[in-house]
Amino acid sequence: MKRYLIAGNWKMVGSKASVETLLSALKKGVASLPSSPCEWAVFPPAIFLPLTQNLLQGSSIVWGAQNCADQKEGAFTGEIAASMLLEYGCQYVILGHSERRHLYGEKNALIAARFKNALSAGLKPILCVGETLAERESQQSWSVVEEQLAAVAAMLDNPADFERIVVAYEPVWAIGTGKVAEPEMVQIMHAEIRGFLRTLHPETASKVRILYGGSVKPENAHSLLALPDVDGALVGGASLKAEQFLEIGKQCNP
Ligand code: PGA
Repeated sequence: MKRYLIAGNWKMVGSKASVETLLSALKKGVASLPSSPCEWAVFPPAIFLPLTQNLLQGSSIVWGAQNCADQKEGAFTGEIAASMLLEYGCQYVILGHSERRHLYGEKNALIAARFKNALSAGLKPILCVGETLAERESQQSWSVVEEQLAAVAAMLDNPADFERIVVAYEPVWAIGTGKVAEPEMVQIMHAEIRGFLRTLHPETASKVRILYGGSVKPENAHSLLALPDVDGALVGGASLKAEQFLEIGKQCNP
């Protein structure tokens, strides 16, 4: 049985007032479901994490951050340590999102160092991987994703960590563009990712949750979430509207 994760990446959008409105609608929506088909998680901008913690305390929705530092503490202006995120109740942290990779130049080695810190602090890292359109068109999709995965492989020596780590396959050309990857293409990539994980720990590879991300909407969620190796979704734009986010999660079919 799948342990679905439906994750809402709010990116740099929102205000105190909109966070309150959105979380109140999500709490109400999730609480009204007869049985929750999935785990729900939200990723607000870091400055709203204390507010999120106050508002979600006692609800079944969990939360996380959109990035964390590659260092434990010290003179690293602008960074937030994994231990600080834990103080505000974060369970998860998104790492290596394509906007971090492509707009802010984060490379595999830096993302791997962030991943190592998150994991050792006790957070559940969501490692984002995915190819650009040019890389897909030149048949390099798998080699790019494999390199992104290989960068963290050295940190995955404990098979039990496979219950905690999450991989999100997000083809860069599908993020925020309305172009969703075809289900067949998604399943092929997810199966390849699973195969890579199997080479590390054959006995626990099936426990890693592999999410799809990139223009997930209520209209396409069902066909994506039903794929054998898709264990949930990382949702951007549609996670800012409570009814759309809820509708996506309702399409998880255990
Ligand atoms: P999108 O974003 O759903 O708006 O395409 C996904 C993401 O960036 O995680």
